[in-house]
Amino acid sequence: MSTPTRARAAVILAAGQGTRMKSSLPKVLHRVGGRAMLDHAIDAAEALGCERVVVVVGDHSPEVRAHVVKRLGEAAVAVQDPPLGTGHAVLAAREALADFDGDVVVTYGDVPLLKASDIAPAFGADGVTVIGFEARDAGAYGRLIVTDAGLEAIVEAKEASADQLSITACNSGVLAAPAEVLFDLLDRVGNANAKGEYYLTDVVALAREAGHPTRAVFAPEDAVMGVNAQGELAQAEALFQKVQRETAMEGGVTMAAPDTVHFSWDTRIGGGAVIEPYVVFGPGAVIEGGARIRSFSHIEGARVAAGAEVGPYARLRPGAHLAEGVKVGNFVEVKNVTMAKGAKANHLAYLGDGAVGAGANIGAGTIFCNYDGFFKHRTEVGEGAFVGSNSALVAPVRIGEGAMVGSGSVVTRDVAAGDLALGRAEQTVKPGWARRFMDTMRAKKAAR
Ligand code: UD1
Ligand code: CA
Repeated sequence: MSTPTRARAAVILAAGQGTRMKSSLPKVLHRVGGRAMLDHAIDAAEALGCERVVVVVGDHSPEVRAHVVKRLGEAAVAVQDPPLGTGHAVLAAREALADFDGDVVVTYGDVPLLKASDIAPAFGADGVTVIGFEARDAGAYGRLIVTDAGLEAIVEAKEASADQLSITACNSGVLAAPAEVLFDLLDRVGNANAKGEYYLTDVVALAREAGHPTRAVFAPEDAVMGVNAQGELAQAEALFQKVQRETAMEGGVTMAAPDTVHFSWDTRIGGGAVIEPYVVFGPGAVIEGGARIRSFSHIEGARVAAGAEVGPYARLRPGAHLAEGVKVGNFVEVKNVTMAKGAKANHLAYLGDGAVGAGANIGAGTIFCNYDGFFKHRTEVGEGAFVGSNSALVAPVRIGEGAMVGSGSVVTRDVAAGDLALGRAEQTVKPGWARRFMDTMRAKKAAR
């Protein structure tokens, strides 16, 4: 996006109670694509180049305040208490923007799919610009009253005449204006209406009266959708996933059953990667082109290089870094471990906190015992080492380059390069014992 000519700020409304979610988690902290809806709204504001972002929160949700403070700092919080309407909510941000000179856009913490590119056209005009949409079912949305003279007013459904209710051009709620104009107009908004609230939408008619230009620009209905209840959250998620899948396929990712692949907001997959059915990407997954992720794998905070193969049924957790040609097979969990080129853990293993050298082989049933109940420790397996099946590597411990660990070993001390470690009870053999035992038992059973 080109650099804006006028400074930009965003006021994000998030003071609603969100009671229809019926959840103890505040509405705007519910996630879409693994990211809080409020963060999607902040992302859009930042992508628009807003130098100031103010989030209007209610007094009832300290979690929302804490979330905003953590991401943007104290100065980004404005409290609206009690909530007396959308116009009143925007006024709560006045003080935080007292020294701001430029355009202000009002957006919403519960509208997660609206992208910067949808909002950008609202900036740059002299008066008030509203983002509208064509509604499939206009229902309770505010109606845009557009005449030859342009956008004249927004009429809330509760206030609308039968004629006005038949209008399908609706108000998304997003609106922009120069800061001074916006706050001047808001001062004049009253609450003599059906809901007894201070309506942000009234600034349109007031702008006309004051001789400011007003206009509507349109965005797709799907992009402006707001989330009020769990069903809508699921709908927003579905729309989000659809976009992610399409973007991935446009980028050259092969998916035989894209509808079964679940993405996070930041999933990155290179062209030429193959994602088999039923794969879930949590946040922070980076898959290079040419990698193959097999069915039923769960991947988050992990990197998978070209030519690596993961799954089926593998779990990669944060800090799993798989280099070229690595193989992580079924029922293997990898956390905070770097696996160098061509290393393999093909079946049933837990690799936590450490490093596996190039070409090393980790046998089935191997466990990196990384936790002593208090601290985490590292396990290092050298290049070309061979760890036999069902071994417990008790960290901190190092297995040297080209060393071997005998199957079933519990390894508590370092193993030098080229050595063999055996950490298991020595085998004894009793010749003929089994045959004699079985013969005796069979005879007993037959005599019953
Ligand atoms: C609003 C618009 C309507 C538009 C619709 C789009 C007004 C008067 N009407 O109606 O034209 O079609 O959105 O969804 O603006 N909020 C606060 N503080 C308040 C009141 C609301 O922060 O005091 C926040 C809510 O958290 C919510 C948003 O503003 O996210 C919208 O408020 P809501 O009361 O749901 O407005 P609508 O009646 O849906
Ligand atoms: Ca609403």
